[in-house]
Amino acid sequence: MGALAVFASGIGAAQDSGDADSRDYSGLSGDANRGFYVARLAGCVTCHRATDKSGSLFSGGLQIESRAGTYVVPNITPHPEDGIGDWTFEDFARSLTEGLDPEGRHYFPVYPYPFYTHMTSQDIVDLWEAVKSVPPVAGRAPGHRLKLRYRMRGMVGIWKNRFFMRGELTPVAGKSEQWNRGRYLAEGPAHCGACHTPRGAMGGRDLSRRYQGGVEKVGSNGPDITTATLEANGWTEGDLVWSLRSGIMPDGDAFGSSMSELVQHGSRYMSNADLAAIANYFFDQPPPE
Ligand code: HEC
Ligand code: HEC
Repeated sequence: MGALAVFASGIGAAQDSGDADSRDYSGLSGDANRGFYVARLAGCVTCHRATDKSGSLFSGGLQIESRAGTYVVPNITPHPEDGIGDWTFEDFARSLTEGLDPEGRHYFPVYPYPFYTHMTSQDIVDLWEAVKSVPPVAGRAPGHRLKLRYRMRGMVGIWKNRFFMRGELTPVAGKSEQWNRGRYLAEGPAHCGACHTPRGAMGGRDLSRRYQGGVEKVGSNGPDITTATLEANGWTEGDLVWSLRSGIMPDGDAFGSSMSELVQHGSRYMSNADLAAIANYFFDQPPPE
């Protein structure tokens, strides 16, 4: 079925389905330092950092090439017109957990909200403190330059009905706290599957082949990082921790492409405990769904 046919048959569903992730954030208080930590490990800085020399963590402008065309990452500093200075916490939280803008329009899933929807409410509250504490930066990123059939935000609603699984993850019983922390980071904020899990024709991740290597990811193709393949290639848990810290693989080569940026702006800031948790999870992955 062509994209237009999908659009036509699903047009009634182009509005959000409405079964929103009804979270209660009351009683939580955010911490900006914790929030910057989350912004690093979740890749917010990797994508939203300045592309000029200003050093801003969130002023945007990065161009992401994909088969859909070029996405331009927006300014999310607290600038009232050019950033998100007039947003409420609820607007921010809803963008992460529902992929909706303050007017209720769908975001393109290049913004990895299909992973961020799994974030804990505490991490979201902390992130908000960090994002709103940076200096406002003027300057709006130019619009995306997408091929016609990828421009329609209504299409994203159909995609979400099929592929978007919202809400926090329930810890897996019988697994250690460390393993569950690793699973949370990998499947949630650190969104390893965005580049390492293959996608079907409509761009949804094929969870029956989780981590077997991304083939059609926006911008990059991550290799197979299933437990069996990591082991067959001689990786150990310690190697994975070291590589996510240093950007150097066990064979002495540096990571290339988006993985090196992910380390440079993100994972190298992670605590030893969190890196060890990710490694623990990757060497004991659950069976495919
Ligand atoms: C892979 C790159 C990437 C990562 C990682 C990423 N974003 Fe984004 N973000 C984008 C793009 C691209 C858009 C624009 C989406 C659209 O136009 O539909 C966006 C949109 C947004 C928006 C909406 C801005 C607006 O003006 O409407 C917010 C808020 C945001 N991101 C916050 C975050 C936070 C917080 C994180 C980390 C938890 C994050 N992003 C991680 C690429 C990214
Ligand atoms: C933005 C896309 C992206 C994300 C997100 C991502 N990766 Fe990668 N990863 C890549 C790419 C691309 C490569 C190949 C790098 C190269 O060419 O050197 C790679 C390579 C790797 C390798 C080396 C595998 C090998 O045998 O060569 C490991 C291990 C790895 N990633 C683990 C992870 C983990 C763990 C996460 C989550 C914390 C993650 N990646 C998130 C894109 C990504």
